[in-house]
Amino acid sequence: MRKKVIAGNWKMNNDLSQSVNLISEIKNAVAGNAVNAEIIVCPPFISLETASALVKGTNIKLGAQNMYFEENGAYTGEISASMLKSVGCDYVILGHSERRAIFGETDEIINKKNKKALSADLLPIFCVGETLEQRENDITKKVIEDQVRKGLSGISEEEIKSIIIAYEPVWAIGTGKTATPQQAQDVHEFIRNLIKEMYSSKIAENIIIQYGGSVKPDNAETLLSQPDIDGALVGGACLKADSFFEIIKSA
Ligand code: PGA
Repeated sequence: MRKKVIAGNWKMNNDLSQSVNLISEIKNAVAGNAVNAEIIVCPPFISLETASALVKGTNIKLGAQNMYFEENGAYTGEISASMLKSVGCDYVILGHSERRAIFGETDEIINKKNKKALSADLLPIFCVGETLEQRENDITKKVIEDQVRKGLSGISEEEIKSIIIAYEPVWAIGTGKTATPQQAQDVHEFIRNLIKEMYSSKIAENIIIQYGGSVKPDNAETLLSQPDIDGALVGGACLKADSFFEIIKSA
């Protein structure tokens, strides 16, 4: 039985005091309730250290939204994997479609980031997803296969066990258009079979594949009840503690 993993991607939202408020509210909501899922919050860099102190001793884990693949040096504006570890991060979101589309990240860059994160003991939430045009041209599975194979190139059987894959159809992100549970399940099953082909059935059985793209309290349960959907990567709906908590409860 795979555990469900619910992660909140705050994106570029919330300054430090707003972050403190949101984390505290999530903490309070979770504290009084038996929760059956792993919970990860991914605030902006500036709030990570404070957030780490706030979630200490709870079952809420901390993730960052990005990092660079070099260890240190003249990379103005970038953050390394070991820096994220030093402020208490366990996870890092890599290859998000906004990073790919707005910041020009290629599969090769994302592959380097996945490898670097793993070597620093930071667990990647590795995102893949097709655009609307690609779906309409009926090349969704080809695009996903390409992103998965390139993003995981050179990653060993031992290392893949530490990776979460997030399937996020680009057309569903922040648009209010969710993939239907069946559309999502089809791609999740495809990814799991691909992992089986690339690694082994055991690894495919155990790997966590999250769905992301307009997950809300009212659609979370049907999505999360699909056999190959093991969690959610939530954007908009994670910015309010009550809706994030509703999604956690659906798991
Ligand atoms: P959304 O974002 O829930 O606002 O669609 C999801 C994501 O980008 O991770």
